[in-house]
Amino acid sequence: MERIVVLTGAGISRESGLDTFRDADGIWSRYDIADVCTPDAFRRDPALVDRFYNDRRAELGRVRPNAAHLALARLEEAARTGQWPGELLIVTQNIDDLHERAGSRNVWHMHGELLRVRCTSCGGTPEWQADCLPHTPCPLCGRPTLRPDVVWFGEIPLHMPRIEAALEACDLFVAIGTSGTVYPAAGFAALVEGHADTLEINQEPSAVSTRFDRFMTGPATRMVPRWVDERLAR
Ligand code: APR
Repeated sequence: MERIVVLTGAGISRESGLDTFRDADGIWSRYDIADVCTPDAFRRDPALVDRFYNDRRAELGRVRPNAAHLALARLEEAARTGQWPGELLIVTQNIDDLHERAGSRNVWHMHGELLRVRCTSCGGTPEWQADCLPHTPCPLCGRPTLRPDVVWFGEIPLHMPRIEAALEACDLFVAIGTSGTVYPAAGFAALVEGHADTLEINQEPSAVSTRFDRFMTGPATRMVPRWVDERLAR
């Protein structure tokens, strides 16, 4: 049985119409990380931060999963039905819900999710579709202490102990559509060195490409289905 861990980044959702962060027209070319993506930013101006994530949450209603998301869901389905003798785990840095909408179930969001908020009083993370404002009450405890359920710079990503355990146990690590500039995700290829094969699928080489055995260079919607077909044909 082959165990595969796939790490995805913003590049896999770009062809669905969601911007990446560091491409020329990316989110960080329009916003300053220090204004919208740190705990300090939220303390300083929660309305600005909420507006940033409200806009991104609303955008989700206008996009759909693309061929890359659908191909990964197809591979997971093949494992479930026994057509493919393997196990697939998706660890995503993305806060969108396109993997789940494509049908993937085994998905861990290490940087959080847009369709949840987090209450800093009761610790609950209820599902959330609408706008969230600084005075919006928590649906669980009623206090106006909600924040986006997103991991900001300087905070510890979610699920790290079980992500590390899955990386230690995997036979193949695949990184799709990520620039390899943000840690700890950018360090995963180095973590599996010596016990797993590694593949990078990206529009261009990432900052950690030298850590990978193999590359497939091109748009995710073309390369990921090709890689999945290859897997299923073995
Ligand atoms: N197909 C494949 N790869 C693509 C495509 C595409 N259509 N379009 C862009 N890419 C690649 C880019 O070449 C780049 O290497 O996707 C990568 C996107 O990189 P980033 O914008 O840096 O996004 P990501 O790596 O996911 O960022 C990591 O940084 O800002 C934080 O928390 C945020 O989760 C995010 C983290």
